[in-house]
Amino acid sequence: MNRILFVCLGNICRSPLAEALFLQEIERLGLDGKYEGASCGTANYHVGDPPDPRTIRNALMNGTTITHVGRQFEEEDFKRFDLILPMDVSNRTHIFRMYGADSQRHKIKLMRTFDVIGTGGDVPDPFNGSEENFQEVYDILSRSVRNLVRVLEGDID
Ligand code: 4NP
Repeated sequence: MNRILFVCLGNICRSPLAEALFLQEIERLGLDGKYEGASCGTANYHVGDPPDPRTIRNALMNGTTITHVGRQFEEEDFKRFDLILPMDVSNRTHIFRMYGADSQRHKIKLMRTFDVIGTGGDVPDPFNGSEENFQEVYDILSRSVRNLVRVLEGDID
């Protein structure tokens, strides 16, 4: 369970931030080298693009630096990764449908399965939202990623 892939729609807002937070957390805990974190989108709109400037700015304000180049999910990702974490139900459905992933379903979990606040559900898409929406995404993802690492490390169930 060491290779983790974060997935959203465009791969410019939520999933590159989740990836950056994951890499930051494993580095903070001295676990770099043990895990691999990456991100991609189910859509191809932003392949080759940097993250959304609003995501980069909000993350920096919160002490997180993001460097990423957008790419689209591909079937090979089922082989490359141990755990695939879509940001919302729509992206999970897309992965199931597009790639007939029945045999791989055990690898796919919604990102907010790991949130300690709320009852799971979606990481809301901030693309058409305000600064507050970007901050809400940051807060959800930083909580979820910290908890994810604790689960991966076997500290909690
Ligand atoms: P993301 O947000 O899935 O969190 O990267 C979006 C980015 C781009 C678009 C939609 C959502 N778009 O429609 O271009």
